[in-house]
Amino acid sequence: MDLDSWRALQAAQQPEWPDPDELEKVVAELGGLPPLVFAGECDQLKDQLAAVARGEAFVLQGGDCAETFTGATADNVRNKLKTLLQMAIVLTYAGRVPVVKIGRVAGQFAKPRSKPTEVRDGVELPAYRGDMVNGFDFTPEARRPDPWRLLKAYHSSAVTLNLARAFTKGGYADLRQVHAWNQDFVAGSPSGRRYEQLAREIDQALAFMRACGAEPEEFHTVEFYSSHEALILDYDRALTRIDSRTGLPYDVSAHMVWIGERTRQLDGAHVDFFAKIRNPIGVKLGPSTTADDALALIEKLNPANEAGRLTFITRFGASKIRDLLPGLVKEITASGARVAWICDPMHGNTFETPSGHKTRRVDDVLDEVAGFFEVHRALGTHPGGIHIEFTGDDVTECLGGGHEINEADLATRYETACDPRLNRVQSLDLAFRVAELYRG
Ligand code: PEP
Ligand code: CO
Repeated sequence: MDLDSWRALQAAQQPEWPDPDELEKVVAELGGLPPLVFAGECDQLKDQLAAVARGEAFVLQGGDCAETFTGATADNVRNKLKTLLQMAIVLTYAGRVPVVKIGRVAGQFAKPRSKPTEVRDGVELPAYRGDMVNGFDFTPEARRPDPWRLLKAYHSSAVTLNLARAFTKGGYADLRQVHAWNQDFVAGSPSGRRYEQLAREIDQALAFMRACGAEPEEFHTVEFYSSHEALILDYDRALTRIDSRTGLPYDVSAHMVWIGERTRQLDGAHVDFFAKIRNPIGVKLGPSTTADDALALIEKLNPANEAGRLTFITRFGASKIRDLLPGLVKEITASGARVAWICDPMHGNTFETPSGHKTRRVDDVLDEVAGFFEVHRALGTHPGGIHIEFTGDDVTECLGGGHEINEADLATRYETACDPRLNRVQSLDLAFRVAELYRG
């Protein structure tokens, strides 16, 4: 199998590295480094996503739009995990469904951009493409693509994943900690209080089970998986290894990788590369997607029709999902293709305020999720999960939600390196809403 056939094809959204020799050195070094995840873990996630495709489990996938190297701190990673764990427990308990937890973490360092350059006050510089490529500061030095950043991205991912594994396996994710995850600014919010009530109920259920002599291992740790958009193919290719058990190639930089809306060209390099790796994979589908496009992607990316291999992440926008999703789901279901459907209610709902902040309305996010459930319920298909951009901190990047953030508030704590993220309270609100929708 030729893992490099993508090199002859058009690869959208790749940086123009100033010095190809430097890139080669970095890629050689990356190629000798240990895997970040094991192929067997990728298979395990694929099995869980197969359950999602069958309608037996729900995906919660989320994290920053763009991780940064300076953001790989213990506090930051813990707060994100805490948010994900709180959301997952709400969905599991109130939604009564097993939740597959996937972070947009430990590798989400590269961004596709709508324009290759950015102009400020008449000065034009290359656009910021994520810490894996160049720097966020608006200076010629920072914006120059530097291939050594690929290596830094690997190490930053390793640190983050190590911490995430320690948190999820070392006692922090133990169900007896349900209250501890709620102890900070979130506790005073309406959804924080609602969560506290739910946590008390869980406590009682646990006490009852313990009294019955039941204390299953599942209560003490959680399975947590990593994912990112595999955008910079030199990076993901360098971290693709042949699995010694099966002789098959896996991208061992993350458990799951996805193809973005801007790089899913059927005859493009990304689709070719993804067809070769054996990880569970996702493809983002925007409003221009036709059923034929989606069927052709299935043909290329999952010719054996394995459940769990392919997840479609739809991101149509709240105003379009009810019109555009039904046709797609109908035709794909009729074809017999096994896919999991999950909803990204973020990327179709972004706009810029007069103050120049990229933002999203929480109401639009909730409305797109509601539309996603309506469409799948009407067709008898399974609304398989959500894919969101959030942070564990008290930022002010999305409008509305529990603390009613308005346009004037945006500047208070606008910290994202790319798209606006839901803050902790907004994320928890969303989890309660999704749990209600799931139970119907
Ligand atoms: C993203 O997930 O941050 C992103 C760029 O999404 P999309 O490919 O759907 O535009
Ligand atoms: Co984004």
